[in-house]
Amino acid sequence: MKRTLAYSVIAGYFALVILGIYVVGHYWECNDQAPEQPIAYSHVRHVYQNGLACTHCHKFTDKSIHAGVPNLDVCAKCHAGMASDNPEIKKLQAYIEEGRPVVWNKVHVLPWHAHFSHKRHIKAGKQCEECHSDVSAMPRIRRARSFEMGWCLSCHRKNNAPQECWTCHK
Ligand code: HEC
Ligand code: HEC
Ligand code: HEC
Ligand code: HEC
Ligand code: HEC
Repeated sequence: MKRTLAYSVIAGYFALVILGIYVVGHYWECNDQAPEQPIAYSHVRHVYQNGLACTHCHKFTDKSIHAGVPNLDVCAKCHAGMASDNPEIKKLQAYIEEGRPVVWNKVHVLPWHAHFSHKRHIKAGKQCEECHSDVSAMPRIRRARSFEMGWCLSCHRKNNAPQECWTCHK
């Protein structure tokens, strides 16, 4: 009797742990991979339908560690004074008129101890799609790969790129 009780307590404990992992994992999938944004900006609309190049907005990919998210001057060129009933465009226009920056939620964040450089990879001929997947098909941007160490290393191995710890941890 005592034994059965002990077993069910242990089984119950693990069931809870597994449920916890599942819930956290699900929450992560829904939220963290594709966080909601203050304005429903869509890459499908701008890249696929309007044919804008990634570097029209992410100007620093071949010049800096960071790709850079555009400020509102870039959006204002098309959207200031655009006649539209779309509530998201109206929201954007209010930001532009008030000179208030949009604080976008970050989708990709490496931990502080990992070093990554866009410039280095773009100069080596890597395309955005290889790491970010087909952004032009994402109405809301999401993290398409794990962005974990094993993912970085497997491509470095394939390309004979450096794999020593200090390459990425400085
Ligand atoms: C018209 C401007 C514009 C164009 C063109 C554009 N983007 Fe973006 N991009 C944005 C804005 C604004 C954000 C921030 C809002 C968001 O996350 O939805 C963003 C976010 C991103 C992010 C996520 C940033 C983060 O927080 O980690 C990635 C990755 C990205 N864009 C890749 C691309 C790629 C690849 C292309 C070309 C296929 C592209 N973008 C074209 C404006 C643009
Ligand atoms: C080259 C011109 C151009 C630039 C630059 C541009 N947009 Fe747009 N955007 C458009 C057009 C065209 C539409 C479609 C308008 C419509 O359907 O009424 C649009 C639609 C939108 C919409 C409505 C939702 C949707 O998907 O149709 C939002 C929100 C938006 N843009 C946000 C932005 C933001 C934020 C930026 C700056 C990061 C930006 N746009 C830069 C041309 C542009
Ligand atoms: C070799 C993989 C790789 C390629 C190729 C790549 N990215 Fe990234 N990108 C990353 C990683 C990793 C991060 C997260 C960086 C961090 O957190 O410091 C990131 C973050 C971003 C961000 C958000 C933060 C920032 O750095 O400003 C944007 C925007 C972005 N990438 C756009 C692009 C665009 C546009 C291209 C193509 C011109 C591109 N990336 C090519 C791996 C890549
Ligand atoms: C799509 C393949 C690919 C992915 C994914 C990738 N890399 Fe790279 N990486 C390369 C290549 C190729 C080079 C060599 C570039 C050169 O020769 O200049 C490189 C070079 C580097 C360098 C410079 C090495 C030096 O000589 O100092 C760093 C740092 C780096 N990568 C970090 C990362 C990190 C961190 C990640 C994951 C977040 C990552 N890379 C993901 C292909 C990739
Ligand atoms: C190509 C780039 C790259 C190389 C080379 C690399 N790492 Fe990492 N490492 C990363 C990235 C990116 C992360 C962060 C992953 C994440 O966000 O989960 C990381 C995370 C870690 C962590 C934290 C735990 C974890 O797994 O998230 C440790 C510890 C670590 N690395 C040790 C090492 C050691 C030791 C070496 C050498 C044998 C090494 N790394 C080589 C990119 C690299």
